[in-house]
Amino acid sequence: MAADLPPTIPRSRHQPGLRRQGAIVGALLALVTALTLGGGAAGEGKRSAAPEPNAVYMQPVDGLDAPELATFRAGETLFRTSWIVFPALQIPNWDVVRPPAMFGWGLGPTYIANACMGCHVQAGSGKTSDKPGATVFQQLLRISIPGTNPHGGPNPHPIYGDQLQVFDVISADRRQVREGEADVLVDWQAEMVTLPDGSRVELRRPRIRVTSLSFGPLGPEVMTSLRNTPAIFGLGYLESVSEEDILALAEAQKARGLNGRPNYVRDDINDKTSLGRFGWKANQPGVRQQVAAAFLGDMGITSPLYTKQNCPPAQTDCRAMPPGDYKPELRAADFDAISFWAQALEAPEPRQLARAEVQRGAQLFAAARCALCHVPDMKTSRNAPFPALANRSFHPYTDLLLHDMGEALADGRPDFRAGPRDWRTPPLWGIGLRQQVNGSSNLLHDGRARNVTEAILWHGGEAQDARDRFAGFSREEREALLAFVNAI
Ligand code: HEC
Ligand code: HEC
Repeated sequence: MAADLPPTIPRSRHQPGLRRQGAIVGALLALVTALTLGGGAAGEGKRSAAPEPNAVYMQPVDGLDAPELATFRAGETLFRTSWIVFPALQIPNWDVVRPPAMFGWGLGPTYIANACMGCHVQAGSGKTSDKPGATVFQQLLRISIPGTNPHGGPNPHPIYGDQLQVFDVISADRRQVREGEADVLVDWQAEMVTLPDGSRVELRRPRIRVTSLSFGPLGPEVMTSLRNTPAIFGLGYLESVSEEDILALAEAQKARGLNGRPNYVRDDINDKTSLGRFGWKANQPGVRQQVAAAFLGDMGITSPLYTKQNCPPAQTDCRAMPPGDYKPELRAADFDAISFWAQALEAPEPRQLARAEVQRGAQLFAAARCALCHVPDMKTSRNAPFPALANRSFHPYTDLLLHDMGEALADGRPDFRAGPRDWRTPPLWGIGLRQQVNGSSNLLHDGRARNVTEAILWHGGEAQDARDRFAGFSREEREALLAFVNAI
């Protein structure tokens, strides 16, 4: 699978001729896409060979046994699968005829993309469009209103829920759910910054517009947060770091004048509150819950964890939509396989670490105090989801903690203990390979940064000092630091 993959977000929404045909044509289109996307991983059967350039985020960790490797491959197929609406809508005992995992049934009623791969292309990050007023693509818009839900998380909007679904599978002649809940558009507002040596860098910040709202206005209280799609390799390692180690990092930072804090979030699997590790605000406690939340929120697919369709009460056509409640649309074995796959994705090896410029960059990374938050060395505990991940050292360049990153990056939308200006330090490993994986170099929670320099120049709050040190470097020093970041 070396070829560039086409985006799998359906186009019917913007092609009136197709839209009228409703769900069935959509389903057929998706089926064709599923056929073109299907297939094994790069390097299958020749594991020692170097992966294709666009498959470096899709490799399994070393040390999986044969059954685990088989589960990994099954999970990868599910990740590539385009989910469709069951064309005949209702067949008694349909589960009996449900075909193998390569096809997924149960897309919608509302959704944002019809495949995980549609946003995380090659397990990589999302791309933003630079055009003014472009439709948000490979990203999503979280929404909520003031207050909290019963578990202390964001208070969902009473009509639209907690994120906007921009597509639906309900045919055009059924008026109420019209082409998804709304359109989400982004305009970029440019601004120049001048560094101490006189160099000028253009930054841009997003201005979100929500149009074509299907159920009336969002109201003045609504809080929004644009979220870029992150790369998803190496998560099994991050999941296996002991809570103790993470809390120790927070303590050590205090002595250095920083204020990294853990998020504590709703853990639906264990029915309790747990340390948050995943998502831009660390609002997900583990990979399995994150995967189930993605199936439901992004694709409208129920799972053993989230069995109810994502249809807020006001969306009556959504609620009435047949097939409505196959229980669940993602089967338990498939949920296990794709969760295992997401836990077992290896992080790419660093490259060219011995080069003199890269070595110099490593020193500057430390001197600018980047490494206080982007912590290079971590280890997994004994309690890993499978043996190959236990007791391993690894180099993610994150502390998994929340930091106040200043007003310019604030989304104003709290998420459990993450405040309006807080973001979780994202890992930096593999960042230099993003372009070759899927052509995306967009960084930061909303994808506003087009490269590493812009990402650093947006750092404020607790990271203002690091940002200013970087800005104060000579051009050669800045380039050496970038060479290092791109090598790890
Ligand atoms: C609409 C685009 C989109 C689709 C489709 C999508 N994701 Fe995501 N994914 C995101 C975004 C955006 C985030 C970050 C969410 C946040 O922080 O609020 C994310 C976060 C994640 C994370 C956590 C990564 C981290 O480091 O914190 C995992 C794992 C993940 N997605 C897996 C999946 C899987 C598996 C699927 C398919 C079931 C999927 N995603 C479908 C956009 C998408
Ligand atoms: C106080 C903690 C802290 C310090 C110090 C810090 N960062 Fe960050 N960094 C973050 C957080 C939090 C984010 C995410 C911000 C967001 O998405 O809005 C981030 C984002 C990034 C990103 C974008 C990553 C991505 O996946 O989008 C890069 C690149 C980066 N930092 C590099 C650096 C470098 C280089 C330095 C030193 C000059 C540095 N950071 C210092 C906390 C820190």
